[in-house]
Amino acid sequence: MTEPQIVNAHDLSFELMFSEEKVLARVEEMGRTLHEKYHDKNPIFLGVLNGAFIFTADLTRAFGEQCEVSFIKLSSYSGLESTGEVATLIGLTSDVENRHVIVVEDIIDTGKTMHEFLSTLRKMNPASVAFATFLLKPDAIKYEFPIDYIGFEIPNKFVIGYGLDYNELARNLRGIYQLK
Ligand code: IMP
Ligand code: MG
Repeated sequence: MTEPQIVNAHDLSFELMFSEEKVLARVEEMGRTLHEKYHDKNPIFLGVLNGAFIFTADLTRAFGEQCEVSFIKLSSYSGLESTGEVATLIGLTSDVENRHVIVVEDIIDTGKTMHEFLSTLRKMNPASVAFATFLLKPDAIKYEFPIDYIGFEIPNKFVIGYGLDYNELARNLRGIYQLK
């Protein structure tokens, strides 16, 4: 299927940055890398809703080995801007004690959401914690923590698609699109 080069969401126009083909090839690679380290560890993949719902589905299937899949819901964004406040909308329901946890994010921007969540998670005594993010904006990072698996580094631009939204639209686009 050929995807559109330009898409509109609400009042804004976005142009294609990564095609579906490129996205899926990278996710397959990430799954293979995770497989090397976790194939015999029955890890818990912890997707961060809503943005990581598609990436979590594709990454866990690319991993292809026994694992658990669970989700949490945090929110720090409103429109195009991070609000700086992280709210827990759905908390952690899995027992992570002595388990290998891989937190799965769509994008790390300032890092605030994951930095705050990491301190919550550590109190629950997991065997290990790793972060896998599909996208990273290195120029936007303000909170330092180790990010173990990165799909693509991108410039500090607002992007949508492959789970990422602009005010709840565009999550179902197959590629990644950047603000024009
Ligand atoms: P952080 O706490 O600043 O790292 O923000 C992370 C969250 O903000 C991500 O999980 C996304 O939900 C959202 N976000 C950050 N950048 C973008 C973007 O370019 N497009 C859509 N959502 C974004
Ligand atoms: Mg998110």
